[in-house]
Amino acid sequence: MAEPVHLAAVRASYDTVAADYLRLVVPPEGMDPVSRAMIGAFAELVRESGGGEVADVGCGPGRITAYLHGLGLSAFGVDVSGGMIGLARRAYPELRFTVGSMGALDAADGSLGGILAWYSVHHTPPEQLPVLFAEFARALAPGGHLLLGGHAGDEERHPTSAYGHPVSYASYLVPVGRLVELLERAGFGVTARVEQPNAQNADRSHVCLVARTPQNAGD
Ligand SMILES: C[S@@+](CC[C@H](N)C(=O)[O-])C[C@H]1O[C@@H](n2cnc3c(N)ncnc32)[C@H](O)[C@@H]1O
Repeated sequence: MAEPVHLAAVRASYDTVAADYLRLVVPPEGMDPVSRAMIGAFAELVRESGGGEVADVGCGPGRITAYLHGLGLSAFGVDVSGGMIGLARRAYPELRFTVGSMGALDAADGSLGGILAWYSVHHTPPEQLPVLFAEFARALAPGGHLLLGGHAGDEERHPTSAYGHPVSYASYLVPVGRLVELLERAGFGVTARVEQPNAQNADRSHVCLVARTPQNAGD
């Protein structure tokens, strides 16, 4: 399958910023308590549903993958940036990290207990979100859980620099109601929706959505 055009810019930009991203962005242990609690709740939901492998998609330097591992999950990371994956492998050699696209997961149909996408789907152009969410639904087991965390809004940004380096990616903020609608169209039921206006002193709201695939065919 041909790679979506936007991914080349995402890869190049995160390869460039990787080391400073790691230095500047707080790990899960330093996150605001609500965000950390949502990641903890996601881990508990996956464990209660029987566990299974969990993909941290757009895993960056792998700190959330490792945090999920510490919460008892069999977690692995996927990221399009080889620079990010290199940092993740160096920090957590016991965990599996793969260079790849979250839009074409190397996972059999119905094989994952959970998928976490933390501040990573906003680089996907909104018109491609239906295909992306269909890919998540394909890879998740019946009753599998998805946690989406990131900024919500209604704007497209083309920053020229981030983390002290030039970047060429775009960020697409989508209203939370639209995200819910797209998840439902992909077959998910949204089980939790947490919004934090002005979270982390940002000028945008932070949103966490937990969604689940149907437990039985026809649900
Ligand atoms: C802002 S960073 C977040 C990293 C990590 N989730 C965290 O919270 O520390 C976004 C990451 O998503 C990755 N990414 C964006 N779109 C992707 C895609 N379609 N497939 C795989 N990785 C992607 C980027 O390469 C980058 O490492």
